[in-house]
Amino acid sequence: ARRIITIDGPAGAGKTSVSRRAAGALGLPYLDTGAMFRALALRLGPGGHELPESAIESALGAMAFDLAGRGTDTRLLIDGAPLPEAARTEAVGAMASKLAALPVVRAGLRAVQQALGRRADLLAEGRDMGTAVFPEAACKIFLDAAAEVRAARRVRQLEALGAPADYDEILAAIEARDHQDRTRAESPLAAADDAVVIDTSGLTEDEVLAAVTAAARA
Ligand code: C5P
Repeated sequence: ARRIITIDGPAGAGKTSVSRRAAGALGLPYLDTGAMFRALALRLGPGGHELPESAIESALGAMAFDLAGRGTDTRLLIDGAPLPEAARTEAVGAMASKLAALPVVRAGLRAVQQALGRRADLLAEGRDMGTAVFPEAACKIFLDAAAEVRAARRVRQLEALGAPADYDEILAAIEARDHQDRTRAESPLAAADDAVVIDTSGLTEDEVLAAVTAAARA
């Protein structure tokens, strides 16, 4: 069986940068599943979640996902190209979250994610990697942090991307997205029963990385 490590948690818990670095430390390909939901959101545009199910299904079916390389150099290719940085905004995250509540979207992307996991060992990051997509994973990690801490980090991240944002707006958007992700009927955001839960609120990124790699090597 493949070696799968899962990292789940809410928006802004620091999953993406820690996951990429942990994949580097562990020598595993890194699968950013949020990027898949964001790519679909970009493809369908605002209001995409209100399109007929058949239109969403065929848009998803027409997208090709491929994983190249490993560690910090892993590239997720969507129709041959990486997710554009412009898709990292909170607006696209909110669209992705609405799409992510639809069973047709979850089933379609779960199948793609599981196919990638059959092809190679993975460090898979998202919301439901340990609970729904890879319940048999060797090691499951859940990164959490207070909403205020996550909002402050997100503001700094968006500033670094050249998209300055207002703290109060980001906090409200993060709380709305979390609520949507935690309360959806199918595969809601939650820690798996056998996950190692790490609260990153008072930790630096290096400290989180150390805790994640220690759990993965245990
Ligand atoms: O992690 P990221 O912020 O890029 O994810 C965007 C959105 O995609 C999340 O808010 C969530 O609704 C959805 N998602 C999901 N399941 C995953 C990964 C992301 O539902 N495994």
